Amino acid sequence: MLKETQLIRSVKGTRDLLPAETHLWQRVEDEARAVLGAYNFREIRTPILEQTALFARSVGEETDIVTKEMYTFADRDHESLTLRPEATASVVRAYIEHSLYNEGGIQKLYYIGPMFRRERPQKGRYRQFYQIGAEVLGSDHPTIDAEVIEMLMLFLSRLELKNTALLLNSVGCPICRPHYLAILKNALAGVKANLCADCQRRTATNPLRVLDCKVEADQPIIARLPSILDHLGPECGQHFDRVTAELNERGIEYTITPRLVRGLDYYTKTTFEITSGALGAQNALLGGGRYDGLAEMIGGPPTAGIGFSIGEDRLVLAVGEAAQGKPDYAAPPVAAYIVWMGDRTLAPARQLARELRRQGLSVEIGYEPTKLKKSMGIASRIGARFAVIIGEGELESGRYQVKDMVSGEQKEVEPVNIAEYLRGPVAASNDVTPQTSARGANKNG
Ligand code: HAM
Repeated sequence: MLKETQLIRSVKGTRDLLPAETHLWQRVEDEARAVLGAYNFREIRTPILEQTALFARSVGEETDIVTKEMYTFADRDHESLTLRPEATASVVRAYIEHSLYNEGGIQKLYYIGPMFRRERPQKGRYRQFYQIGAEVLGSDHPTIDAEVIEMLMLFLSRLELKNTALLLNSVGCPICRPHYLAILKNALAGVKANLCADCQRRTATNPLRVLDCKVEADQPIIARLPSILDHLGPECGQHFDRVTAELNERGIEYTITPRLVRGLDYYTKTTFEITSGALGAQNALLGGGRYDGLAEMIGGPPTAGIGFSIGEDRLVLAVGEAAQGKPDYAAPPVAAYIVWMGDRTLAPARQLARELRRQGLSVEIGYEPTKLKKSMGIASRIGARFAVIIGEGELESGRYQVKDMVSGEQKEVEPVNIAEYLRGPVAASNDVTPQTSARGANKNG
């Protein structure tokens, strides 16, 4: 219980993203939308609240997510609701609920938003975290698997992320997996006593999860367990061969990792992860795979699907490290700080601010009369690229002083020409400055 005067802080495992960081998030999201758009993905926005049964059935009753990590509560009418721990189940639910399959062809959908898992917080692991995810519904063609991975590679290369590794596996399907599970259970029976407590439980509840165990002492034992890739049925085997052949053809490097079973139960055939060397213990940048049976698990028609989710918090961490000092990752500068001196100059100064802003330039103006020296101090503190100075003399001459805060050069410019005068250098200072909106406003204005 909080004392009445005690400071109220954010909830453990959640964080405020402050303006110094959000520009990088926006940069990453802009790039994601551009690449997803190029591959013809369209955005879907599903609710954060869902019925608990959606995740219990799809992610799996025995998974860590469902047994330990969900924020689940009874609504006032006693319905069990959950803050989504992931969005694939929600996207498939929406696809079924709105009969998107009636639109014909395949649906390529993407989402960006918060997810909630009650994990132990650490660097790169939060209780509210963000994902950029995409799902392709309506085809089981292996080319889609390869194309989705190709798109991810393009996205990561656009962000200049190096030191990443693509891990690839197949987890089979409901026809061939039971056969492998029987073999795995058999092998586990012989080593069960030497495994960690969680894995001892998993040998009975969900033996595949043993492969996913992170406990150091278990690793040599797990390394000797039979590989699922040696037990795929003909269809899953062919699918996997086609995916790897298509990745080879595209020149995409990968490491086949038979232990990569992923922490969610809905997967069939292809699974993959991309790890980043820039991250610490939580090095999985993204994960994904095929889930051809998921739609049926939640009451829909048979629908093949594949997708991925990028951990945006981790991506931003990695990009932030890779981008240190690169100007195009810096926050866009304020184009101009408008300095006015004397009551008579206030109205024209406001008018200029309004016009520059209408043209899409970022402008700040003081609200109180301020001495020139102090005003220039403000201009430099807020990182303004230019200061526009308007005094009585400037009003008389009809030309304002425009000072380049980088070179120190000062010029007299007529108010109508100021926007044009600022635009070039401002754009050059940062190529994410809203050039398009500035041009757009010009055209319409
Ligand atoms: P996931 O592997 O559970 O897959 O999560 C995907 C990514 O989300 C992880 O690789 C990680 O980067 C990030 N992530 C997960 N938990 C946290 C956390 N507590 N804090 C920060 N980041 C986290 C899925 O969610 C599936 N829906 C992926 C998918 C889409 N499969 C098919 N389609």
